[in-house]
Amino acid sequence: MPWLVSIVNRPIAAPRAASPTARVRFDQLVALWTRHVPATAGDGAGDYEDFVEQAVRLEAALNTFGADNVWLVVSTEPGIAVNAGTGESRAAAELQHWPRYGTQPSRRHEDIDMQQARLAADYYRYEAFVSRAGRRLSVCGFGLEGQGAELGDVLAGWAAGGARRAFLKSVQIKQFAFPMDLPAGFGPGDGSRLMYDALDYGAMYMEGVRESIIAQEFVTMEYEYRLFVVGNTVATAAGCVEEFTPLDNNGYPFDNQLRRHRQAKSPVEAEPAIARALTNFSRNAVDALALEVPALTDYVIDVALGPTGKPLIVELNSLLNAGLYASQPARVTKAMATLERETVR
Ligand SMILES: Nc1ncnc2c1ncn2[C@@H]1O[C@H](COP(=O)(O)OP(=O)(O)OP(=O)(O)O)[C@@H](O)[C@H]1O
Ligand SMILES: [Mg+2]
Repeated sequence: MPWLVSIVNRPIAAPRAASPTARVRFDQLVALWTRHVPATAGDGAGDYEDFVEQAVRLEAALNTFGADNVWLVVSTEPGIAVNAGTGESRAAAELQHWPRYGTQPSRRHEDIDMQQARLAADYYRYEAFVSRAGRRLSVCGFGLEGQGAELGDVLAGWAAGGARRAFLKSVQIKQFAFPMDLPAGFGPGDGSRLMYDALDYGAMYMEGVRESIIAQEFVTMEYEYRLFVVGNTVATAAGCVEEFTPLDNNGYPFDNQLRRHRQAKSPVEAEPAIARALTNFSRNAVDALALEVPALTDYVIDVALGPTGKPLIVELNSLLNAGLYASQPARVTKAMATLERETVR
């Protein structure tokens, strides 16, 4: 079974002071990378996490699918797919119907068929999410002049009820996400000013666009944890620790090294009981999502402990583009390969 595997050819990084086993793994990755990916001018000075994540994906694909089944598309030459075993090349455009693995080039997922990514990006519309969000949410826009839910009205309502802080996120992925204060006396007319203060001219493009913002109540989120779901089953998971890569995995498919405050970068500690609670909660959410959105099968789900220690869902993301942290990516490729074999096309 052939696979179309997209790799971003990041420059090779310098090794990082790490455990001896992590160092051995790093050197193996560099050797593998050098065999399959063309050299770049920045080699030796690349970003460590960016490089390791790409190299680990390459390794997982080769080990699981077999080199002869891997057709590599490197980001600097997106038109050509090269067979990792034989070196044969073909036009990538001819292979678009094949199953894919690796970072997908388009954030909007418009130029290629990325149904799973689009369904994951719509998470805020699903009852299975909303009922496990642990916070109020409203999908709104600003400057709408009565044509739909207005940001200022939503926030003024929350402020009147005593909320002092909100979290705003764009519906379009990676456009913006930020917390903001709701001063006492925040009124419906303050919504547009707030967006212009935060985004400057960027706000212009959103003014008058309905359902462009996911307004949320601000709640504490602790011990954020990412679970990788393939075929409605959790394959691997790890704490949201920005500087961790799969080379930091502690030997468990469900890595239990967690950070209490993701943003403040508090210490990372083994928290098996919390990891277990978050995993159980997520499995239940995954089951609920499978019933509600049967077409959504592959994604990552980010969860955390909310204000009273109760688990909540932070968000869903596309499986192929999500950061790996200290997960075991080979568990994802194996699950993908098993499902492909079982699927009649
Ligand atoms: N309602 C909220 N209240 C408080 N903090 C929040 C809220 N929603 C999200 N956060 C915090 O902000 C972070 C980013 O939010 P989210 O994951 O939804 O957006 P994102 O665009 O994917 O950003 P990132 O790429 O940093 O994860 C979360 O990991 C969490 O720490
Ligand atoms: Mg996120």
